[in-house]
Amino acid sequence: MSVIMDGKALAAKIREQIKNDTAAFVRKTGITPGLAVVLVGDDAASKIYVKNKEKACAEVGFKSEMYLLEEKTTEEELLSLIHKLNERDDIHGILVQSPLPKHLDEALVIDSISPDKDVDAFHPVNVGKIMIGDYSFLPCTPAGVMEFFKEYGIDTTGKRCVVAGRSNIVGKPMAMLMLHANATVTICHSKTKDLADITRQADIIVMAIGKADFLKADMIKDGAVIIDVGMNRNAEGKLTGDVDFKECEKKASYITPVPGGVGPMTITMLMKNTLTAAENYSKKKG
Ligand code: GUN
Repeated sequence: MSVIMDGKALAAKIREQIKNDTAAFVRKTGITPGLAVVLVGDDAASKIYVKNKEKACAEVGFKSEMYLLEEKTTEEELLSLIHKLNERDDIHGILVQSPLPKHLDEALVIDSISPDKDVDAFHPVNVGKIMIGDYSFLPCTPAGVMEFFKEYGIDTTGKRCVVAGRSNIVGKPMAMLMLHANATVTICHSKTKDLADITRQADIIVMAIGKADFLKADMIKDGAVIIDVGMNRNAEGKLTGDVDFKECEKKASYITPVPGGVGPMTITMLMKNTLTAAENYSKKKG
């Protein structure tokens, strides 16, 4: 039996800290951190994520603005909105919910966000900073995973860590954070041969491939630490991760559930980045 890592409880604890830090920041500077969230189109999951971000902002004492744009929004309209948000003094963080409708160029949209307000850390400038170990902004989901290691006393130094998935949002920055934390990191992906041979050697596995219940007990070693970033609907429509929790829970030392694991941590790290953005703005202003 393994320890089930409680993302809800950890997120609540860190949000309490952010709430206190925000109150102190507002008292000192008179500035309320402001986050703008932009959603284009009708994706049902994205709508839920955006609502949760709005709720989290209210909880920690931020101002938030939601922009729910029609599916047919043009690139010019979206870029013009981002430009306006870039210029505003009361908005310190800008997030454009991914995925965007197909007719919009996601890379171009990300590039148009001011790196100082890019609280997702998706802009090439911030991605580059993460690569060299300068974390102006934390990549939200990977940073949330690192908080689990801290909270549960899991030392990554010298450990064999496998990241399954190579997305820009999770896989790549996750590998980088663990590398900076002295792990020996292997990145696996859809073209990896004999994936189970690699995962069976791992002390720590982070699953981010988007395949329901993919990681089975015979693919992990006894006592492995299992982190599940997956968010899938299974055949019955139930929310499930990339890990077969029932099987792996018996063999792992620590494991995150879905829901209630990594999910709540991602938004918490977004709140942390928004406060950082407001603090940086305040310092720059002098
Ligand atoms: N879509 C899924 N996860 C994320 C995220 O962390 N940020 C943004 N902007 N879009 C997402």
